[in-house]
Amino acid sequence: MIYPIVMYGDPVLRKKAKDLEKGTDLTKLVNDMFETMHAAKGIGLAAPQIGQSIRLFIVDGTTLEDEPDLKDFKKTFVNPIMLDEHGLPWPFEEGCLSIPNIREEVERPEKLRIQYFDENWNPFEEEFSGMKARIIQHEYDHIEGKLFIDYLSPLKKRTLKGKLANISRGDVDTEYRILAPLKK
Ligand code: NI
Repeated sequence: MIYPIVMYGDPVLRKKAKDLEKGTDLTKLVNDMFETMHAAKGIGLAAPQIGQSIRLFIVDGTTLEDEPDLKDFKKTFVNPIMLDEHGLPWPFEEGCLSIPNIREEVERPEKLRIQYFDENWNPFEEEFSGMKARIIQHEYDHIEGKLFIDYLSPLKKRTLKGKLANISRGDVDTEYRILAPLKK
């Protein structure tokens, strides 16, 4: 089942998401999230983006041909805890399925250490760097109620105000189904 993607302005994107009860069967939800993300050609999707305020996100960089480092990077993160972010901050132009057609440069630390469960509740503690870390940081922000535009300068944010208002009204071109909070 393909969910519509929740657009910028919906309060669910600003909530700190809640942990899942350990042992919950996530098979259908995780399958649906991968289906939804692939249909929208995304490389990451967090549960709040389908309207569910729970600590769950998925990543899949395996389709990016110019990123050989990501060829096995398809994962589910359940109840993740960011233990540490370190290394030199580096800039990268980010986008987000909930903020279509806007891409802006964001600086984030190069590396991270994260604790999480996979979809079968196997526990992991791992270190990631580079693009893998970048994707995880962006998705982890979603379950904390944060968005990449929060890192932009006040000036930059002001220049995007009109576009963001249009997105909240559903006045934006996408190749996937959206759910806009202010759509009449
Ligand atoms: Ni996003």
